[in-house]
Amino acid sequence: MITQEAASPINAIAFDAYATLFDVYCMEALAEEYFPSQGKALTILWRQKQIEYTRIRTISGQFKTFWEITRDALIFATRSLDLPMNDSQRQHLMNQYACLRPFPENLATLETLKAMGYPLAILSNGTHPMLDIAVKYNDMQHLFSHILSADSVQKFKTSPELYQLAVDAFQVPKNEILFVSANAWDACAATWFGFTTFWVNRNQQPEEVLDISPSACGRELSDVLSYVGGLRG
Ligand code: LAC
Repeated sequence: MITQEAASPINAIAFDAYATLFDVYCMEALAEEYFPSQGKALTILWRQKQIEYTRIRTISGQFKTFWEITRDALIFATRSLDLPMNDSQRQHLMNQYACLRPFPENLATLETLKAMGYPLAILSNGTHPMLDIAVKYNDMQHLFSHILSADSVQKFKTSPELYQLAVDAFQVPKNEILFVSANAWDACAATWFGFTTFWVNRNQQPEEVLDISPSACGRELSDVLSYVGGLRG
């Protein structure tokens, strides 16, 4: 684990959802079933396009929900890879996206953080229905005191208005909120916003070149435990 700077005391923790709590790349198995040898390429392009559309729509003031954007990105990705997708396949892929599984270490990590007394939240581009379904499907309802969605501000990350939802919900100063994301760009922008941040770098990606670094970095979500434990002394 790398800690970039002397950190503030942490009094609440907010988590990104997709790719941090829920494994978006597990869509590959179903994609591979429908489009042999293209599952991985489709899953990666689908995710890239999904995030790109959130940014284009936010910059241009053309909000559409993350659920609709996820469907639009899937349609684009299949067209781009020349994969013929019928309505039933599209529906099944979207249904599975609604019920993504968490990464293996996540539930135990969240339980431990909650037992340590930290209020926990999800802070995500996802819609309220998407997040509620994923949380219920994985029996995580008891873990979170707030589920915060881009729906409330009609803007996606990296808009400060979306990050501000956590400050308003927890009622603690920004730098006392630890924001945890496996998306490096999200962790960097949240650092600009003023959160203390933890980047879960699961795939040993290089750091973003954005003139800012997350406050700390680890390989899996469970590394957050030693980080907050270290701050408590
Ligand atoms: C989210 C996307 C960025 O959950 O993963 O906000």
